[in-house]
Amino acid sequence: MIETRLLAAETEAQLDTAVDAAVQLLRAGEVVALPTETVYGLAADATSAVAAAKIFEAKERPAFDPLIVHLPSREWLYRIAACDDMMVLVEELCAAFWPGPLTLVLPRWKHIPDIVTAGLPTVAVRMSGHPVFARVCRDFGRPLAAPSANRFGRISPTTAAHVVQELGGRIPLVVDGGATEHGIESTIVAVGPNELRLLRAGPITIEEIETFAPVVHAGLSESPSAPGQMPSHYAPRTPLLLRDPSDGWETVTPFAAMETTSRRGLLAWCTGAPDRFYERVEILSPTGDLREAAATLFAKLRRLDEAGLDFIFAEPVPETGLGVAIMDRLRKAAAK
Ligand code: TXA
Ligand code: MG
Repeated sequence: MIETRLLAAETEAQLDTAVDAAVQLLRAGEVVALPTETVYGLAADATSAVAAAKIFEAKERPAFDPLIVHLPSREWLYRIAACDDMMVLVEELCAAFWPGPLTLVLPRWKHIPDIVTAGLPTVAVRMSGHPVFARVCRDFGRPLAAPSANRFGRISPTTAAHVVQELGGRIPLVVDGGATEHGIESTIVAVGPNELRLLRAGPITIEEIETFAPVVHAGLSESPSAPGQMPSHYAPRTPLLLRDPSDGWETVTPFAAMETTSRRGLLAWCTGAPDRFYERVEILSPTGDLREAAATLFAKLRRLDEAGLDFIFAEPVPETGLGVAIMDRLRKAAAK
């Protein structure tokens, strides 16, 4: 066990102190948890195999699962990835969405050790626009490898308190930048010369990227090259079941245990259900706003997970725009 410091970054002075502390630790080859615009990330020097190994250790992440590399500036893109065959498309995407929640998977070039890419011939890159993350990365002056700051397979953290729950005692520093804006992890696309393969749905929607190139959905027929694509992920400890919207509220599921004494919770879309069936209800967005639903999804799932329930039911949300990414997370949370 090590002591985990928690530093606020609300005032300018606090921000300076927190950024300095983070950069010092990163220079010493340590890991630090930082807010991004999507979820909190656990960052380390992406050019150091030893530093990156500490991420895998703290998260208990299997070595076959590659990390996203976050860039201090656009110039770094061409140092670590080979974009020649798709330069125009890459530049258009970067101009439209960087810094921001879009990760590009590109052929790997130099500087990034095997442990970061899990030996793949490709590297995943993005540039965060979060004021804390972007400043730490710029001041550090080198790319940062950063997966979500949760233990492997668990719900991604959207607040500093979530990070402490997940990794307290295992990492030296968490910088508190408040709740994250988008609340779900970045959209990941593999860029080809004339097409984009969607590897993970996220805050940048299919509608937004398909104006740049045709989008191919990396379906289940392809062998998953990334655990974010594996069926079970983002999992609460409490069993989660996706409700069929055609069921009535009183309809009992196939599991006999739920009929009588079990304690049930509901992750609802925009209206609550009769509470005699559910002991605890969290509503994703009372106004039916997918942005709000995405931003609060993981925090609400975590609250239900901590409520001592036997089952969590999740209502589907409309599967358009951001709803695609939300449904992806709910299906993975339901898969066991
Ligand atoms: O929003 C985000 O993307 C957050 C913040 C911290 O940046 N990061 C994040 O990282 O969600 P992580 O490690 O939890 O998820 C990254 C996903 C993993 O499923 C990983 O397998 C996949 O990206 N990935 C990384 N490199 C890849 C590559 N070269 N090819 C395919 N998938 C890759
Ligand atoms: Mg993750």
